[in-house]
Amino acid sequence: MSAAPATRRRARWRAGVLALAAMLAAAWGIRAAAGAPAPAPAPARAGAWQWDLPPNLPEPRVPRANPMSRPKVALGRHLFYDPRLSGNGTQSCGSCHLQSLAFTDGRARAVGSTGELHPRSAQSLANVVYNATLTWANPSLVTLERQMEVPLFGDNPVEMGVTDRTKPVVLARLRKDARYRRMFRAAFPTERDPVSWASIVKAIASFQRTIISGQSRYDRYLAGRATLTASEQRGADLFFGERAECHHCHGGFNFADQTVFRGSRREPALFHNTGLFNIAGTGAFPEPNRGVFELTGRPRDMGAFRAPTLRNIAVTAPYMHDGSIATLQEVVDFYAAGGRVIADGPEAGDGRQSPFRSDLIAAIDLSAQDRADLVAFLGALTDRRLLTDPALSDPFSRR
Ligand code: HEC
Ligand code: HEC
Repeated sequence: MSAAPATRRRARWRAGVLALAAMLAAAWGIRAAAGAPAPAPAPARAGAWQWDLPPNLPEPRVPRANPMSRPKVALGRHLFYDPRLSGNGTQSCGSCHLQSLAFTDGRARAVGSTGELHPRSAQSLANVVYNATLTWANPSLVTLERQMEVPLFGDNPVEMGVTDRTKPVVLARLRKDARYRRMFRAAFPTERDPVSWASIVKAIASFQRTIISGQSRYDRYLAGRATLTASEQRGADLFFGERAECHHCHGGFNFADQTVFRGSRREPALFHNTGLFNIAGTGAFPEPNRGVFELTGRPRDMGAFRAPTLRNIAVTAPYMHDGSIATLQEVVDFYAAGGRVIADGPEAGDGRQSPFRSDLIAAIDLSAQDRADLVAFLGALTDRRLLTDPALSDPFSRR
């Protein structure tokens, strides 16, 4: 047959053209990197990140500089739970953010790696990706990447206790581990030296973005797949009604009033004074827990805190920024009174009379049954799946 050599010749010619095209593309790639306009982002590839979201949650917003990827999330999960990440090798993020407690620690105030007591309570990380600002009261902290510098490198108080001296020590610890070398390489394939603090921060942030909670019984009830008890139903009516007014600050899909997601509008972040303190009638909160006032010094920011999500609230006791309210019953009593009265001691004062208390907080006429109903409803916001999901669990614990 004479067609065979011709076919082979055509195939060789085609291969040559393809190789030439590839070379030109590579050259273009170098030019693009050297300052020509970047090509449009590639369309979704096989293996690209796919969110696996409950039906009522919107797609999260992710910084362009740190796109999601499976290897990054896997690496971030390991680092999140690895005590080698702290200066003295004793504490991980997971020491203060325990999955079984919706990523809180069960203490009124957190304790750092050197034993130092934190002034505030460790926060839940459930749906942290949807928080417009981070921590209890900091309007300027808006990305998980930036927030992480606080627990890692902060010294007031010491949390993970990584200092300029121990920064290279921690990296050396991780580099010694062949598995980490592989995981960093897989997560950051284009970095010349993938084991770096920048990579650590990006990977942990990516992992935190997967701590998603939207499968509580209340969510399933909304989807028509579960029922509420009569008490929970009455509690929901109170929560969303205009007598108790909880939904004004703890509303929307995340039971909070500061939310961002992909395509959400930019809105000013709200902070509120709920009347927890009114030291000597001046409206003051105790230092260094004066809320946004600590940063701005503006009187109207005194005692102003972010309204946290109430998802999983039944497992995150004790409550408030300083852990000063022990149970949900007492939180509801506090709201019913319209503020807290502290009878004596250096923090004495009547929070109900605070000049800075939010207009949305006032005494609510709630019967014992109403209060029990509200607490019952809050209990329906617990997402058992979040508390036990193996994908979010400590990879170092042998169970
Ligand atoms: C010593 C205990 C402790 C350790 C260790 C710790 N945290 Fe926290 N975390 C806290 C406390 C306390 C807060 C509240 C901080 C504040 O308001 O000042 C917090 C807040 C946060 C928040 C803000 C959540 C929100 O809803 O705004 C994120 C995110 C977070 N931590 C992530 C991490 C990561 C990541 C690590 C590891 C690098 C880590 N934390 C280590 C105690 C800890
Ligand atoms: C004016 C806005 C506002 C209203 C209305 C409001 N809250 Fe809050 N809530 C907050 C803020 C702000 C905090 C955090 C306060 C702090 O830590 O000092 C908070 C904290 C909480 C906490 C503790 C959260 C935690 O993680 O420790 C619970 C529980 C809670 N609120 C339930 C309710 C209920 C139930 C109602 C209705 C009776 C309600 N809230 C009404 C703003 C509000």
